[in-house]
Amino acid sequence: MTALLRIESVSKTFPGVKALDRVSFEVESGSVHAVMGENGAGKSTLMQIVAGVLRPDGGELIFEGEALHLRSTRDAAARGIAIVFQELNLAPNLTVAENISLGIEPRALGLFVNRLELRARAAAILTQLGIRLNLDARVGDLTIAQQQLIEICKSLVHTPRLLILDEPTSSLSETETTLLFRVIANLKAAGVTILYISHRMREVFTICDAVTILRDGKHVRTMPLAATDQDEIVRLMVGRDLANIAKPSDHATARPIVLSVRDLSDGRQYQEISFDLRRGEIVGLSGLVGAGRSEMALGLFGAPAPERGDMTLDGVPVKIGSPSRAMRLGIALVPEDRKLLGLVLGLGVGSNVSLAALARLSRAGLIDFGAETTLVGRYIDRFRIKTPSREQLVGLLSGGNQQKVVLAKWLATNPRVLIVDEPTRGVDVGTKAEIYTLMRELAAEGLAILVISSDLPEVLAISDRILVMRQGRLVGELAHAEATEERIMALAALEHATSAA
Ligand SMILES: Nc1ncnc2c1ncn2[C@@H]1O[C@H](COP(=O)(O)OP(=O)(O)OP(=O)(O)O)[C@@H](O)[C@H]1O
Ligand SMILES: [Mg+2]
Repeated sequence: MTALLRIESVSKTFPGVKALDRVSFEVESGSVHAVMGENGAGKSTLMQIVAGVLRPDGGELIFEGEALHLRSTRDAAARGIAIVFQELNLAPNLTVAENISLGIEPRALGLFVNRLELRARAAAILTQLGIRLNLDARVGDLTIAQQQLIEICKSLVHTPRLLILDEPTSSLSETETTLLFRVIANLKAAGVTILYISHRMREVFTICDAVTILRDGKHVRTMPLAATDQDEIVRLMVGRDLANIAKPSDHATARPIVLSVRDLSDGRQYQEISFDLRRGEIVGLSGLVGAGRSEMALGLFGAPAPERGDMTLDGVPVKIGSPSRAMRLGIALVPEDRKLLGLVLGLGVGSNVSLAALARLSRAGLIDFGAETTLVGRYIDRFRIKTPSREQLVGLLSGGNQQKVVLAKWLATNPRVLIVDEPTRGVDVGTKAEIYTLMRELAAEGLAILVISSDLPEVLAISDRILVMRQGRLVGELAHAEATEERIMALAALEHATSAA
């Protein structure tokens, strides 16, 4: 057993945050090594140190037996280390081939970009990974999953010996994840060592050889996956007991209807959608990626308004022409893409939490700052948002903690109807359990909740009732008691649809 990388007592402090505290462990050559831990545990920080993005305050990295002193990702690339970041970093207006060589374009006479060479290089990498993509396609027109694969291609231009993947699957569906796993297997067979960050247990047990667990910036354990199980990993990660999630129930049907939707259509992405949402009920909305779930949810929120259809709120007919109208009527939407619609990255945590609730916190046009401070404090506590202060810029929080801020922001508006689209993407196991418990508590207080999720275990764990969409239409409904992963999939995918309905 030889170590490709030895991390020795590495520390890193940001203003107000000790992100890494004397972390030491080894990564075996040729292995796929998982790094796990709660949101804010220090995973991305450590990976960025190994990749030359950040410099450690203390400690050392030994790579192939020699000390590493990296000043940039370029330095790291020269030593054979590449990273694919948690957030995508592509140029949407450039082509696939251009993106793969972005910043390291082959040049003729040291001047002009050699386009032939550029295309040849991209084609070679795509072939090596078994990915079929048009070299001239504009990256902005591709799916998130395809973009994720291009990020990986980009990192392979210098044929790394160590490849770091920071939550590569958080926006991938099951099929796309399988494709990525094939790519990882190919790389491993070619002798590349991989550091793999993920919150998904199933994945880690499928493709990784060893796991390192970080907690609060400290190293907890490194061990072969063959010698452990899920429960032990969760215990080591969380360091406390997980919240017990209250079970969904089947007797929500007696409650009054809050939101009633009839024949909603936008003429393209969803058609003839009809359903009711009751007080105190959590309804799951399931379906394959692209079934029109997010578009329909945005329609309910007036972003944009549907072309046809009727809606009533507490029995009163309403027209929801815009998001601001939806918010005034008590409908809140937590969007799928937190950067696009959810957060203002240049504002502090506190301002983001209270932003959407300001109307409610104002008296005669003046913001009640006392009430605002109390509200923000309550949500930071209730969601365990890991931040040194309420003034910290949201953009500096770890990915999972940003997700919690979006949820807090919309709950702070005190809505009647809450629509959440993929609420736990990138969220760690402990926080997931807390978010489920919180949604259950809010339902018990009378809120009606519609949850879109591609994570089947999640839908089953939290929904009183499950609606299934396929190709823009509602194709079935399952009560909690009769729902299983198989039945949902049978409705969501075209095959067997009729036999299960
Ligand atoms: N540039 C920065 N400035 C200030 N604080 C930072 C910065 N980068 C990270 N942090 C803080 O350092 C801690 C560790 O963050 P890191 O991103 O490494 O967590 P993580 O384990 O990757 O979490 P997640 O699972 O949510 O992605 C967090 O408290 C985070 O808010
Ligand atoms: Mg991270």
